[in-house]
Amino acid sequence: MSRIEVEGMHRLQGELTIQGSKNAVLPILSACVLNEGETILHGCPKIQDVFSMLEALSLAGAKYHWEDHTLILDTSVMYPAPFIEKAGSMRSSVMLLGSFLARFGKATIGYPGGCCIGKRPIDLHEQVLTAMGASFFENEKYLEAECKQLSGCELYLPYPSVGVTENILLAASKAAGLTRVFGAAREPEIMELCKFLSVMGVAISGAGMGKLQIQGGKFKKNIEYTLCKDRIVAGTYLMAVVIAGGEVYFREMPLEHMKSTMKVIGMLGAHCKKEGNRLQVLMKEKPKSISYLCTAPYPGFPTDLQSPLLTALCFGERKSCVEEQIFENRFLIVKELEKMGANIKIDDRKVMIHPVNGMYGANVTAQDLRGGAALVLAGLGAEGVTLVENLEVIERGYEDITKDLHALGANIRRFS
Ligand code: UD1
Repeated sequence: MSRIEVEGMHRLQGELTIQGSKNAVLPILSACVLNEGETILHGCPKIQDVFSMLEALSLAGAKYHWEDHTLILDTSVMYPAPFIEKAGSMRSSVMLLGSFLARFGKATIGYPGGCCIGKRPIDLHEQVLTAMGASFFENEKYLEAECKQLSGCELYLPYPSVGVTENILLAASKAAGLTRVFGAAREPEIMELCKFLSVMGVAISGAGMGKLQIQGGKFKKNIEYTLCKDRIVAGTYLMAVVIAGGEVYFREMPLEHMKSTMKVIGMLGAHCKKEGNRLQVLMKEKPKSISYLCTAPYPGFPTDLQSPLLTALCFGERKSCVEEQIFENRFLIVKELEKMGANIKIDDRKVMIHPVNGMYGANVTAQDLRGGAALVLAGLGAEGVTLVENLEVIERGYEDITKDLHALGANIRRFS
C-alpha cells in the first residue's frame, strides 16, 4: 500500500496544467471497440482506471502503446473475451456492455465496482439494452449479455444517469435504425463521447440537451482525437488553493464546463481572473462558510467535488450545510476528517459542518477516489503532518497528485 505524507500550512504558488478527463476517456476507450482500426488519442491521462480499461481491451485482442500522453490503440482484430476478475476494480467496466454487444453480439463482464459511495445498481443499464434487443443472464460472479442485432428505439430515462446514457450511445451507434433518448444526462463527458462518436462517423444530435438522437451506421477507420481536460481534477486543485491559500495559475482549464464549480470557489472567497488560456486563482484569507449547497446532475454542482468542498468548509468560521443528492453513501470522508479535528454531523443525505479551532495532522485512510484526494487537501490546511494511506484509490483518477501539489510548493511526499 502506498501513502502520502503532507505537511500543512504552506501557501501554494506556481503554475499547473490539468490532466485529461477520466470520466471522458473511459467511455471513449469503450467506443474504440466499435472502431475496427486504429485510434490515436492525445492527452490521455495515465491513471489506474485507464490501465484497467486497457487490460480489458487487451484481453479481447486489442493492441496499444503509449507515446508520452498519446495512446495508440489498434482495435482492428478483437473477440468478445470475458472480463471478470478485474471488472470489480472500477465502475466503468459496465461501459463495455454497450460496445461489446454492438460489435460482437456478446458481452461477459464481472460486476462493476468502483468507489463504495452508494448502492450503484446496474438495473437501468440492463433495462435500456434489453429494450434494444439484448438478453441478460446473471450469476453470482458475472453478467452475460447477448443479442442477434441491436435495434434503435425510443428510450425514456427515469433519471439522467451518466453511465446509462453512455451505454445507450455506444449501443445505438451500431444498432439498426434510429435511437431516441429522452431524459439523457447532460454532463460534458456525454458531449465529449458524442463528439468522439461523430468523428467516427455516427450521426448524433441533441448532445448536452437531454434529448439525444442517434442514427446507427458505418464507421470510419483510423481516428485521431484530443481529449478534453478533467473538470473534476481542476475543481480539486482549485479547492487545494482555497484551503492552503496562495496564488496559482492553471493552464487549459475547462472553464466552459465549470460554471457551478467556479461560482462555489468564489463563494468560498477565492478571486479568479482569466488571463489568456490561464486562470489566476488568488486566495488570501481562510475559506468562507456556505450556509447550504447541494450536489446535482450537470449543470449543478458535481457530486465528485462534494468531498473536496466539505473539506474546505471544515476550515470556515461559521456553520455550513451540504446535501448529497446523487449517491446515498458519499460521506465516507467524514470519519477521517474527524480524526483531524473536524466537527461534522451527518443527517441522512445532509452534513452539518461546524467551525473548529483549526484542523491538525493525523493518520487517515482514503476510502474513495475523490474523498481520498480531499484528505490530501485537508492535510494542506492542517497544522502538522498528515499521512494519507491507501493512495492506490486516489491514483485511479489522479495521475500524480503528489507531483502536482509539490510543483505548487506543497511539502508533500509519496511512499510505497
Ligand atoms: C458517473 C461518473 C461519476 C459521477 C457520476 C454522477 C464515470 C466513470 N463516473 O458515474 O464519477 O459521480 O457519474 O455524476 O463517468 N443508478 C441506478 N441504476 C443504474 C445506474 C445508475 O439506480 O442502472 C443510480 C446510481 O446509483 C446513482 C445515480 O443513478 O444514484 C447516478 O449514477 P450515474 O449517473 O449512473 O453515475 P455513474 O455513471 O456510475
